[in-house]
Amino acid sequence: MSRLQGKRVIVTGAGSGIGRASAKLFAAEGAAVVVVDKVPPAVEETAAEIKAAGGKAISVAADAGAEADVQGFIQKAAKELGGIDVIFANAGISGGLVPLFEQTVELWREILRVNLIGPFLAIRHGAPLMVKQGKGSIICTASVAGLRANAGGHPYSASKAGVISLVQTAANALSGTGVRVNAICPGLIETGMTRPLFERAREHGTAGKIGQLNPLQRAGEPKEIAAVALFLASDEASYVNGQAIAVDGGLSSTHPFAQTRR
Ligand SMILES: NC(=O)c1ccc[n+]([C@@H]2O[C@H](COP(=O)([O-])OP(=O)(O)OC[C@H]3O[C@@H](n4cnc5c(N)ncnc54)[C@H](O)[C@@H]3O)[C@@H](O)[C@H]2O)c1
Repeated sequence: MSRLQGKRVIVTGAGSGIGRASAKLFAAEGAAVVVVDKVPPAVEETAAEIKAAGGKAISVAADAGAEADVQGFIQKAAKELGGIDVIFANAGISGGLVPLFEQTVELWREILRVNLIGPFLAIRHGAPLMVKQGKGSIICTASVAGLRANAGGHPYSASKAGVISLVQTAANALSGTGVRVNAICPGLIETGMTRPLFERAREHGTAGKIGQLNPLQRAGEPKEIAAVALFLASDEASYVNGQAIAVDGGLSSTHPFAQTRR
């Protein structure tokens, strides 16, 4: 397996869920991976799992929404790996489901800071190195919540809609440089972020209803998002640019519906 052989990759939010699954898959495909998360033991565990499987990983505890931290892990990756080919700006927070009239500016600021300004900073400080190389791939995690309402809280949805716009505008700003910028819009995936929902459903015996609104009628797994991130990171996606790709079992393809007989 060597779809990322020789690639130098940064993954943020790599201490859990989609980020951890992607970092492990990237390393298994030959990449050297700098794994970043705000939770030190979690990201160290990801790096340890990669190394135990024979891969190359460097763990960094950092805030993916803070400019000095982003500059720090980008510089560290460039120095220790000799350059950066791929950044997966994946770290995100949900902010919960706070009713509209109870939302504060502080709540909005924090969600936009991590979910939208974080990916902007990854592009702002990572793309210049890729431009010099004449090649690179930046992948940001958006969400089906950025496509329309009711897949998360209001500021969360707005932040993810912003990520979709960010990859379009950044891909165009990087016109002619060889640097590609894309987003993935996951549907409902069982991770640290959504675990309470899954646990509640299991407790109430309604686990079978999870994901029933999408045509595959099930939730997704982190590895199913990692597989698309791997494609976008690799040279197989050399002509894919400025796109927001839904990986959601078909959720975003439908209106709410009542299943009819086949
Ligand atoms: N799980 C889903 O159903 C789903 C659906 C759509 C989009 N997403 C998005 O996928 C991405 C990954 O989330 P996940 O579902 O794997 O959740 P997760 O909670 O399992 O993982 C997110 C990781 O990001 C880290 N993180 C959060 N804020 C950070 C910060 N400021 N700096 C560094 N690390 C930070 C967390 O510590 C955690 O390890 C997020 O952007 C999320 O919004 C998830």
